[in-house]
Amino acid sequence: MLSTNYLCQLTGFARTTAIGAGKILLKKARRHHRIELKGRVNLVTDADLASERFIIRMIKKRFPGHSILAEERARIENGSEFRWVVDPLDGTTNFAHNFPFYCVSIACEYRGKMVLGVVYDPERNELFSARQKGGAFLNRRRITVTSQFRLERSLLATGFPYDIGSCREDNLKQFNRFARLARGVRRAGSAALDLCYLACGRFDGFWELKLHPWDTAAGIVIVEEAGGKVTDFRGKAYSIYGKYILATNARIHNQMKKVLA
Ligand code: IPD
Ligand code: CA
Ligand code: CA
Repeated sequence: MLSTNYLCQLTGFARTTAIGAGKILLKKARRHHRIELKGRVNLVTDADLASERFIIRMIKKRFPGHSILAEERARIENGSEFRWVVDPLDGTTNFAHNFPFYCVSIACEYRGKMVLGVVYDPERNELFSARQKGGAFLNRRRITVTSQFRLERSLLATGFPYDIGSCREDNLKQFNRFARLARGVRRAGSAALDLCYLACGRFDGFWELKLHPWDTAAGIVIVEEAGGKVTDFRGKAYSIYGKYILATNARIHNQMKKVLA
């Protein structure tokens, strides 16, 4: 059993580490970046790598036995019950274009379940965090999802997969439908922050496909602890290793599910 005390220690560590990594990003923001291409449009900058190096060093120092799954380089499998899931910079394309909407995302999985999530936006000094059964917070303030129950009055968020230029499975048709049915749809470029914006009531719903575990691991804990609902497109339990995510304030979940079906 995971004690509340230990979970609080893990969460405190994740918060401090995310802020530290965010400061590294902020220092490098709006300077010249060394940009490499991982795919046609999928970028990695020196900032992604510096942030990841810092986070991995911190985890290894404090929790040397834990496993780590981080986006850029670190895949450490120690057979531990704990696995840290890390996106050192979510919103790399924004970062590389000086569009100030990006974050650090750190989550921890215990025996296959996500038990804590921390997302830090250094541009606005906004720290979103949640631990299992402990509620969700923006800085020190408790946050909850909206109570909006009408899709036509909802503000939604999504993103487009990196293989949109080469693969037929995308979300453009769904984007079209929601653009007509909802009050608005935003594509801001950071799935982790999209989920946090849903958790604190700035969005009412979010859907996306082909995300990676590190994009959603922290955000889903924050959404659920803020009273939201996270499933796949059919309403089945969501896994960070799965392909489809639908996250809402719970009230518009079925309406969005119908459109995605
Ligand atoms: C990306 C962002 C974006 C989403 C992409 C992700 P990255 O993460 O979360 O919003 O649409 O699919 O890969 O590459 O900036 O870490
Ligand atoms: Ca990401
Ligand atoms: Ca990333």
